[in-house]
Amino acid sequence: MRIRTKHQLITAALIASVVVSIAAMVIHTQRKMLKTQSLQRLSALMEGAARIAKESFDSRDRLMAISYLKFLQKEHPELAFASVSYGGHVSNIGEESDGLIYLESSAFPAGKPVRYTISAYPSPSGAATGDLQVSTAGVSLSVSGKATVAIEEPPASLGVSVRLGFVKKMIDSEVERALDPLMRWTAGIAGGFMLLSFFINIWVAKLLTGPIEMLAKATGLLAAGRLDVQVPVRTKDEVGALTASFNSMSGRLKELVESREDILHTLTHEINTPLNGLKGYLELWQDGKLPPDPEQNRHVIGTMIVAVLRMETSLGNALSLFRAENKALSKEELRPVQVEEVFAQTLTMFAPMAREKNITLVPLHKAIKGCVTAPEELIKQIVVNLVSNAIKYAQEGGQLRVGLHDNPKELMFYVSNTGRGIPPEDIPHLFTKFYRSHEDRASGKRIPGTGLGLNIVRRAVKALNGRVYVTSKVGEKTMFLVRLPKAAGKISDTGAGL
Ligand SMILES: Nc1ncnc2c1ncn2[C@@H]1O[C@H](COP(=O)(O)OP(=O)(O)O)[C@@H](O)[C@H]1O
Ligand SMILES: [Mg+2]
Repeated sequence: MRIRTKHQLITAALIASVVVSIAAMVIHTQRKMLKTQSLQRLSALMEGAARIAKESFDSRDRLMAISYLKFLQKEHPELAFASVSYGGHVSNIGEESDGLIYLESSAFPAGKPVRYTISAYPSPSGAATGDLQVSTAGVSLSVSGKATVAIEEPPASLGVSVRLGFVKKMIDSEVERALDPLMRWTAGIAGGFMLLSFFINIWVAKLLTGPIEMLAKATGLLAAGRLDVQVPVRTKDEVGALTASFNSMSGRLKELVESREDILHTLTHEINTPLNGLKGYLELWQDGKLPPDPEQNRHVIGTMIVAVLRMETSLGNALSLFRAENKALSKEELRPVQVEEVFAQTLTMFAPMAREKNITLVPLHKAIKGCVTAPEELIKQIVVNLVSNAIKYAQEGGQLRVGLHDNPKELMFYVSNTGRGIPPEDIPHLFTKFYRSHEDRASGKRIPGTGLGLNIVRRAVKALNGRVYVTSKVGEKTMFLVRLPKAAGKISDTGAGL
């Protein structure tokens, strides 16, 4: 069942119960009031009958009371029974029965003495001594000890009494009849109110669940691959916060997917060229068409190694970017890394590429050593990317120089090369993903590359809490300097993303 329907049902039930209880309360109070009124009316009838009976008794005209009661019965059909008693002589009109409400009134003739009998009885525990005084002020009885006092009512035979019996059913139905219009009104108002609240309820439910429904729809679209889906935030409540979170989630997801697509696209393009070159040379080799001259052969093999290196660097960069997007750096990966060895391995690896361009490599002096506690993979990424750039962007016959400096607090190393240099306007963007200098982006004498290398260098250096600097003189040389703190504890437990 939809939240909207549930909300509507619950609210409708609540409103209905409130409306019904209010209506029931109003009707109950009204019924009570009407009943009191009708009893008051009966009492008034009773009073009138008693007055007439007394008058008739005083004037010794019995017929007067009886004919008045008959007249009353005619006027008021609910009066089913009436009786008048004169000094014990009773005249009945109608029949006594169970379903009647009886009212009774007695009166005594004026001026006649009324006899009271007052008796004091000793209590069971012992005799009570009493003192009875009769005076004009009245009768006073003082008793010490326990006593029971009984006061005798004057005998009915002395006075006149009237008894009226009204049909309860008729009185009740009279009340119900009087209540009828009120009930109709109440039902009408309650119905109208419920109808109104039903529409208000629909509107409120729509207001509350509308954004949730939109969010649910957007989630469905996102699941179906529509990563650009965004939901307008219309409220400042929890649903608004949820919608904002959804928007940032879908935005981040889009960014991630697009970044991966970009990396994949660049990688495919970047790997295709050296792969085709490699394939071409291998086919020549297969067909026995490689030049017989060993010097020329060496050149072919050198070109093939360069192609493999290019593919390896591009692949390594892409992989580390993919990994960096999911993984945080952990302390378990930290171990002492001999940086001079990383340099030595990298320079050996890139030697054929340098040879291709007749670049002179100035490696570290054998005595120079430098150790840093870090994941070895990160140090390799930094060194490989800086060295490969230096060879790539050095001019034919240029020079590549590396340096290392170790002190107790930090380790510094640089990679510098002669060559065209980097224009100052490119410097601020160098470390941005996919950024390549204008010259390298332009077709024609395009130097192959993905624009990922320096971004990876920056991420790796940042993960190690270090810094990377670049200085360049256009037409002369470029130098990248890296400073890494030695304290391994500087890498946080949660890990800095690469
Ligand atoms: N040693 C360097 N000399 C001159 N330009 C460089 C050097 N290193 C990097 N660059 C410039 O920085 C850009 C970004 O480098 P990088 O991120 O490694 O990407 P890629 O090497 O794939 O082009 C390069 O395109 C190049 O223009
Ligand atoms: Mg590069």
